[in-house]
Amino acid sequence: MKLRKLFWIMGLVMILGLGLASCSTPGTEKFTVVELATYDGKNGNKAYIAVSGKVYDVTNAEGWNKGSHQGVSAGLDLTQVITMAPHGKSVLDNLKIVGTLTK
Ligand code: HEM
Repeated sequence: MKLRKLFWIMGLVMILGLGLASCSTPGTEKFTVVELATYDGKNGNKAYIAVSGKVYDVTNAEGWNKGSHQGVSAGLDLTQVITMAPHGKSVLDNLKIVGTLTK
């Protein structure tokens, strides 16, 4: 009887642990193009952009203001646009990855 109870508790702890781990793991959220569009930085929304399938948070990034930066807008796949920037892709290294863009 005691052993049974122990197995129950162990099972519950494992399920809880797995649930928590999948919720809090950063950078694993999946976005469609339509979902990404809602993260435009306007009206208190967060500002996310996608480059080469990865979604980055530019909400508080230097040079970005309410989802705008040098004529560029958040909420979009900017894979092509970033190739025209004077700084190149290295600026992405300092941004938080929130997830991936799904097709
Ligand atoms: C497409 C995505 C883009 C991202 C994620 C991005 C990100 C950033 C970030 C984080 C900074 C500040 C930090 C740093 O310089 O290291 C920055 C600066 C800058 N970016 Fe971008 N950028 C993008 C596109 C562009 C484009 C298309 C242009 C211009 C055509 C541009 C022009 C500049 C300039 C001139 C600066 C330096 C001065 C300033 O902040 O005003 N960027 N960018």
